[in-house]
Amino acid sequence: MKPIEWLTDRLRLLDQTRLPLDETYLEITDYRQVVSAIKELKVRGAPAIGIAAAYGIALGSLNLHTDHKDVFLSQLESIIDDFAQSRPTAVNLFYAIKRMSDAAATGRDVSEIKRLLVEEAASINRQEEKAMADLSANGARLLKDGCRVLTHCNTGQLATGVSYGTGLGVIKAAAEQGKKVTVYVDETRPLLQGARLNTWELEILGIPYRLITDNMAGYFLSRGEIDCAIVGADRIAFNGDTANKIGTYSVAVLARENSVPFYVAAPVSTIDSTIRTGKDIPIEQRNPEEVVQIRGVRIAAPGSIALNPAFDVTPNKYISAIITEKGIIEKPYSRNIKHTLREER
Ligand code: MRU
Repeated sequence: MKPIEWLTDRLRLLDQTRLPLDETYLEITDYRQVVSAIKELKVRGAPAIGIAAAYGIALGSLNLHTDHKDVFLSQLESIIDDFAQSRPTAVNLFYAIKRMSDAAATGRDVSEIKRLLVEEAASINRQEEKAMADLSANGARLLKDGCRVLTHCNTGQLATGVSYGTGLGVIKAAAEQGKKVTVYVDETRPLLQGARLNTWELEILGIPYRLITDNMAGYFLSRGEIDCAIVGADRIAFNGDTANKIGTYSVAVLARENSVPFYVAAPVSTIDSTIRTGKDIPIEQRNPEEVVQIRGVRIAAPGSIALNPAFDVTPNKYISAIITEKGIIEKPYSRNIKHTLREER
């Protein structure tokens, strides 16, 4: 399964909105289709959005037909701007955009810049591939044989675009070490990333799971049937406050209430050191239509007014540890995140 694949002059994306019933790949030749795919969640999950945007920018640059460097750079800027407007919360998007802009700035002429952009996108892809494998191995140490793990949203290969995921990557690595792990999968309303995508990935991996609705998590946590929760992240502030799929905060509070460890798994590219606390993380507000219907079937009374924040912020105090490719970060987060980022440079 390759959710994101660069094919010399095209980008191939697995359309995640059609899973689990249809495995359809999109062959994309116009960067605007990549922007739409990100907005419509055909490609989704913080690291996957970053990788897709990087390839999308490279694709857009290949289709610019001018040899005049200044004209090329101004058209490239407008392409980059389209990506920057696509989704506001996942910082991996802005991390990828910065790397692509920096790469473009080092090229001497148009053909060199195009080559550098394709190479930089591939480099981001390779770096995330390694980061996810390493963080998965680090996190697997926290999972005991026979453990039962609660997940929220999809945090597997689909969400990262590479062989391991974040939260599901940790679970996959533990299973590969021969540990028996059972996953409790929150369905994750409104768009059902848990029910549609985690179940699909867990079936492929052959890891046992039970699907639950979001409001069942407290029931199982309170009965001692869950040993830990592992979620991913879309943006981690410098103090460890973490934005992730809406509902993550409720899981964290319920885990704390029941003395169950709550872990965040994310590559360091998800840490935004320019943001001090979670209060400053921009939260995407999506179309309320996603709430009043499920997969095209209306479930609310005509005229219902819905709200649809796509993410919430879990305060650092609820987070037992942050699992990264550089190691497991514990409290106090501001100090330890600073150390981790310093080693990264
Ligand atoms: O709206 P989505 O589906 O892109 O949200 C995804 C999540 O919230 C994931 O948990 C997050 O990106 C981290 S998983 C790599």
